[in-house]
Amino acid sequence: MSDIQMNTAPAHRRHGSNIGQPLTRRDGVAKVTGAAPYAADRHPDGMLHAVMAVSTISHGRVVELDTDAASAHPGVVAVMTSENRPPLAVDPDEKTNPFAFRLDALQNDGVRYAGQPIAVVIAETIEAANEGVSLLNPCYAPEHPRVALDQDDAFVPPVVGPGMPAEAGIGDVDKGMADAVRRIEAVYETPPQYHNAMEPHSIVATWDGDRLNVDTPTQGLALSQGRIAELFGIAPENIHIRSPFLGGGFGSKGLLSGPIALGILAAKMVERPVKLVVRRDQMFGPLSHRGATRQTLRLGVDGEGRLTAVSHHTLATTSVHDDFVEPSSNVSQTIYASPAIATSHEAVRLHIGTPGFMRAPGEASGSIALESAIDEAAYACGMDPLAFRLANYAEVEPISGKPFSSKALRECYAQAARKFGWADRPLEPHSMRDADGMLVGWGMGTALFPAMMFEGHARALIRDDGTGAVEIGAHDMGQGAWTALAQIAADSLALDLDSTDFRSGSSDLPDAGIAGGSGHTATAGMAIHKAGEDAIAKLAALALADQASPLYGAGNAGVEARDGHLFVSGDEGRSESYADILRRAGKQQVEGNGTSAANPDAQEQYSLNAHGAVFAEVKVDPDFGQVRVSRMVGAFAAGRIINPRMVESQLFGGMIWGLSFALHEQAVTDRRTGRIMNADLAEYHVPVNADVPPMECLLVPEEDAHVNALGIKGVGEIGITGSAGAIANAVWHATGARIRNFPISMDAIS
Ligand code: MOS
Repeated sequence: MSDIQMNTAPAHRRHGSNIGQPLTRRDGVAKVTGAAPYAADRHPDGMLHAVMAVSTISHGRVVELDTDAASAHPGVVAVMTSENRPPLAVDPDEKTNPFAFRLDALQNDGVRYAGQPIAVVIAETIEAANEGVSLLNPCYAPEHPRVALDQDDAFVPPVVGPGMPAEAGIGDVDKGMADAVRRIEAVYETPPQYHNAMEPHSIVATWDGDRLNVDTPTQGLALSQGRIAELFGIAPENIHIRSPFLGGGFGSKGLLSGPIALGILAAKMVERPVKLVVRRDQMFGPLSHRGATRQTLRLGVDGEGRLTAVSHHTLATTSVHDDFVEPSSNVSQTIYASPAIATSHEAVRLHIGTPGFMRAPGEASGSIALESAIDEAAYACGMDPLAFRLANYAEVEPISGKPFSSKALRECYAQAARKFGWADRPLEPHSMRDADGMLVGWGMGTALFPAMMFEGHARALIRDDGTGAVEIGAHDMGQGAWTALAQIAADSLALDLDSTDFRSGSSDLPDAGIAGGSGHTATAGMAIHKAGEDAIAKLAALALADQASPLYGAGNAGVEARDGHLFVSGDEGRSESYADILRRAGKQQVEGNGTSAANPDAQEQYSLNAHGAVFAEVKVDPDFGQVRVSRMVGAFAAGRIINPRMVESQLFGGMIWGLSFALHEQAVTDRRTGRIMNADLAEYHVPVNADVPPMECLLVPEEDAHVNALGIKGVGEIGITGSAGAIANAVWHATGARIRNFPISMDAIS
């Protein structure tokens, strides 16, 4: 059968029942019993341990390292510094593409931020390596650092995030402000937040001549493979990366980081396998973070409570050596209708590690400011915050005028409000108390995140024993890809899950694209869907051309696939099993291939987003100002839900991070030294179980015919976006104190 004949065949329909099932994690037992191999669990024969030494100054040069003392310590095999490290094929400071960070890989003696790697000690044991690091006694030539938003001149960056213009707008904001009956102008500040996934970044690197085996957690197998190939001057196919499990990624494991490159360099230097695990305190530097912002919101509102203007300006931090800028203002382009909108960004260059992607980059920090300002505007108009949001509901995307591909936000508002009991909320702040005398407040926020897709590939096999296999180099950061993508895989072949061998998490499988931008299930899922379609088409072609098959000659009617059988559409009696078709054809298997990508026509015609609404209740101690979140209800509409159990977990995770954003998380920087003073999980606060209240998550049904054939929008990041603002607004409602610096602290309230 030639491809041309197959392409002219009628589309074959597939029936599966796995998508939509709330299955538990297929890898759950392996994980909780310790059988699931994380990168740092690997111990190849002859492996050495590498430990980074990192800078305690934030600007200047390293002038001396006592490498003799470190090398003399028993068990130390080598000390790698900028003077002796193996060469790289490409300068790590070269920006080879927008999706490559400039890396700190010991290219010189310069220091650009505190926590920058300045040496690596390689030893027989981790203890010896740590001791070697402590013997290095670095001497520096320090220079004065700039580490705060007010310490440098702001500039307008060419782009914020990859490919987003720094400025955008529609209409005349000045006129809109002049026309307004009420005006809100407020400045909101968000702190730097550092990635603290449960699993820190780690690598086990093994060279075999010019071939390289790498175990490392990554959100982008092919991206990492390509970047390593470029840096080390070897062919990508000579690099094998295994990344079956990640203990969290959240954006920090998307682009190759300096410490991973250092692990590979160390293995090259000592010609033995090397393991390098980033220590918790070392997470606060070279591994990207959510940069600090100062956001100025100006809203104009007419006599009916309708926005006449929205202006959202962000001043954000970036590093002295790279360009990522938190795109916080962009949220104001899409959520609320206004005839005039202006969004803009400026950045300052500081001696900090380069900021980067951190769960809902831009939207998380931008929405806490926008949702707070909207709440301020609602109160200024004497309106209920939900009624105000409904009065400013965007029927089309405000900045582009495009219709939304689907938008069940009204249903999200309604369902979450009903569940929460919002109708009983008094308008005035400081008007509710519980039986213990605690101030009680109710707040809400709108959640939104774009529905993105990237290019991805998959392979599907149907085998002569009637089983199938799907192969894709996808990434499970903990979100449940091993389960959700396997559900799509089984349905793509119209097989049950147990008959579908799902292989993932390795760079020798087809490139699934990056697991980021909440687009992985859509991207990998569509590649799988198409690969299955292709495999079924090839199998159908065999049957339709075979006189001995009950399906022979039924080409024009089309074929349906169900339960491992092909049927002639509309003629249930004519069917044959996959196994029989293949056996008679004398084939062990047929192979299908699928490629997915964002649909440019859909992007051109529609604004593609997931939506949600989050309601929060807080209780505030009237004497001490301590805030506890006592209830949260979120409702989200994100197109087709592959596995409601996994999706609920993702959304809870996002809502908890919103709680963290509002009340807990911040990196505190010493202005004199540029060092982060709370670089540990004792003082860098993230919510623990005792901080997390009863939460409910409602999944609002939504069909979207435009985002992709499966109708998947993505749920990884949206949960954080409405949640932080909802809590801030609840704190105001409890206390009457409008706190615009985050996280909200006790002293700011009392
Ligand atoms: Mo996300 S910040 O795209 O993992």
